[in-house]
Amino acid sequence: MGKCYPAVSEEYKKAVDKAKKKLRGFIAEKNCAPLMLRLAWHSAGTYDVKTKTGGPFGTMKHVAELDHGANNGLDIAVRLLEPIKEQFPILSYADFYQLAGVVAVEVTGGPEVPFHPGRQDKPEPPPEGRLPDATKGSDHLRDVFVKQMGLSDKDIVALSGAHTLGRCHKERSGFEGPWTANPLIFDNSYFKELLSGEKEGLLQLPSDKALLADPSFRPLVEKYAADEDAFFEDYAEAHLKLSELG
Ligand code: HEM
Repeated sequence: MGKCYPAVSEEYKKAVDKAKKKLRGFIAEKNCAPLMLRLAWHSAGTYDVKTKTGGPFGTMKHVAELDHGANNGLDIAVRLLEPIKEQFPILSYADFYQLAGVVAVEVTGGPEVPFHPGRQDKPEPPPEGRLPDATKGSDHLRDVFVKQMGLSDKDIVALSGAHTLGRCHKERSGFEGPWTANPLIFDNSYFKELLSGEKEGLLQLPSDKALLADPSFRPLVEKYAADEDAFFEDYAEAHLKLSELG
C-alpha cells in the first residue's frame, strides 16, 4: 500500500535516511515527539478531497498558516526543526515534516509507519478552519475526516489514539493536561483511559468522549483498549493514509 509519488534520486533517498537518523536523536533528546506528531498531522489534516487543496505539502512553514488558531504552538516545532532541515536542502519541507511525524511515533515506542518520499512543496497555505474543533462531537469528526479528508470511521478512532502522546496547553488550545499518565510513550493507554472514565490530572476532550458515545466508534475504542497490536496495525495504516493525502 502507498502512494506513487514521482521517483526521487538516490541522493534524495540517502538524505531521507540521514535526516531520519538525525530526527530520531533530536526528537528523543528534546522530548518533543508529541509536538512533532501534531505538526505532521496539522500539515496533512487540511486536505480537502473536493477541491484537492491543502494537505501535507510543507506550507506550515508559512507564518500565514502558523497563525491559524488551531496551530497555536506549532511555530515552536517549525523553529526546532529548522537547524536539521538546513542540513538537508535537497528535501522538501513536505517530506521533512511528515518524516518528523513518522519518527515521533517510532521513537516513543509506536508502530513503524512506512514513509514514501516525493511530496512537493506547495506555495500557498490552505484556508483557515479545516482542522477539527475539540468541543464538537462525532458528526463534526465525520465532516472533517470523512467528507473533507476522505478517511474512514476506523481512521478517526485509530488516529485519535495519537493522543496517547502529549498534552493540551491552556495557552495554545484553552485545554490543559495530558490524556495518559505516560505522555511520552506511544501505547494504547489513551483507549484504556477513555473507557475507564474521567480521572484527576488527566483530560478527555469532548471530541475524545464522542468516540465513546458513537455506536460505530465505540467498538473500535474497546478493541484497541484490549488489543494493542490491533491498534498499532490500524494506526500505522491510518497514519500512512493521512501522511499521503493529496
Ligand atoms: C479527532 C480530532 C482531534 C482533535 C479535536 C484534536 C485536538 C487537540 C487539541 C485541542 C490538542 C491540544 C493542543 C495544545 O493545547 O497544545 C491536541 C494535541 C495533540 N494532538 Fe490532537 N486532535 C485531534 C486529532 C489528532 C490526530 C489525528 C493526531 C495525530 C495523528 C493528533 C495528535 C495530537 C498530539 C500528539 C497532541 C499533543 C501535542 C503536544 O503535546 O504538544 N490529534 N489535539
